[in-house]
Amino acid sequence: MFHRLHLAEELINQKARVTALDLDDNHKSYFFLNKLDRKSRFVKADINDFRSLHKIVTRNKIDLIFHLAAVSTVDKSYDSPL
Ligand SMILES: NC(=O)c1ccc[n+]([C@@H]2O[C@H](COP(=O)([O-])OP(=O)(O)OC[C@H]3O[C@@H](n4cnc5c(N)ncnc54)[C@H](O)[C@@H]3O)[C@@H](O)[C@H]2O)c1
Repeated sequence: MFHRLHLAEELINQKARVTALDLDDNHKSYFFLNKLDRKSRFVKADINDFRSLHKIVTRNKIDLIFHLAAVSTVDKSYDSPL
């Protein structure tokens, strides 16, 4: 489960100014282990929180968003489908 991390890495390699957002700042993830946080900006936030999201987008002058946030583990969706 790494799709978003490889996309972030590729965008960074292409010299894009990347802001990565996630609920979780897991320092054992590919993102942090490969030090992508040093070449981009990481923000811990919930995409359901519109106010925070609006601030992040305007403050960082973001003009393109790739939305890949997901609860991709099937077990969790059985327990909490919504
Ligand atoms: N990995 C695959 O093989 C695969 C295949 C097809 C499609 N996808 C889709 O691609 C997307 C990304 O895949 P991935 O492999 O990076 O998944 P992943 O599970 O590794 O990452 C999803 C991330 O979304 C975050 N997240 C969940 N809810 C959030 C919220 N409310 N606010 C902020 N962050 C939130 C989680 O913390 C998690 O780190 C997902 O939509 C997934 O369904 C993945």
